[in-house]
Amino acid sequence: MSMRVTNEGTGVDAPFEGGVSLLSPLAGPPGLHRDAAFRSKRLTTSPGAPAMRFERKVRRALNQHFLEVLTSLSARLHSKNEQLYDHSQRVLSLALCLLRVLDLSEEEVLTIALAAFFHDIGKIGIDNVILEKPLPLTYAEYELMKKHPAYGARILCIHRPMNKVVPLVYHHHERWDGGGYPDGLEGESIPLGARIIAIADAFDAMTSNRDYQAQRTSIQACEELYRCAGTQFDARLVKLFCAGNSMTEGWTQVEQSYPAGH
Ligand SMILES: [Fe+2]
Repeated sequence: MSMRVTNEGTGVDAPFEGGVSLLSPLAGPPGLHRDAAFRSKRLTTSPGAPAMRFERKVRRALNQHFLEVLTSLSARLHSKNEQLYDHSQRVLSLALCLLRVLDLSEEEVLTIALAAFFHDIGKIGIDNVILEKPLPLTYAEYELMKKHPAYGARILCIHRPMNKVVPLVYHHHERWDGGGYPDGLEGESIPLGARIIAIADAFDAMTSNRDYQAQRTSIQACEELYRCAGTQFDARLVKLFCAGNSMTEGWTQVEQSYPAGH
């Protein structure tokens, strides 16, 4: 099932179509032209104009402004750590592989897609020395690293339209069997989006070339996801993720756009 998500009611003023470049700073200076347009637009209207017209103008401007927030956060992620940024793009694409085959509303798809991209935004609060250190981390470093979902939630929660994104970011390291963090939620009490991100995140970690582990093929990564289905991951989602062409096609696109072999 292919799906086109529009901006209606989401606060995002651009069509979102399963690609990976919406939040990419590579498209140019982050939001510069939009920002200029925002500043140059007058939000006032003539005294006799209907209030609704003014409200529409303000709301449209707010939407543009919200896109600025997204672009700005995306740029912060990119400048903090390029590998982390590429990982975020791949996790977004991999999450879309699942979102394409789930029967969700447009709002749900957009919310989960945003959370997939920003799942590790909290790592901008963690020193690159730790982020780039080959495993194993010390106990203290690992405890610090485990705070990134809470840091991410704190960064995003100040932006009201991200309200529904925040819990997905906060819970993306929970495990189906309750052994994850930060809250030890289990089963379906873990938000669906967070369960989706956990699978996409793990798949990318396994198929990326990281110092501390051998890079796996997509088939080997799926075998590992199956092995951990029902303990670490939602077994139904693992089956959907690894079955059919959706993952294969999505993965091909991911590999082309953001090669993991660095
Ligand atoms: Fe994470």
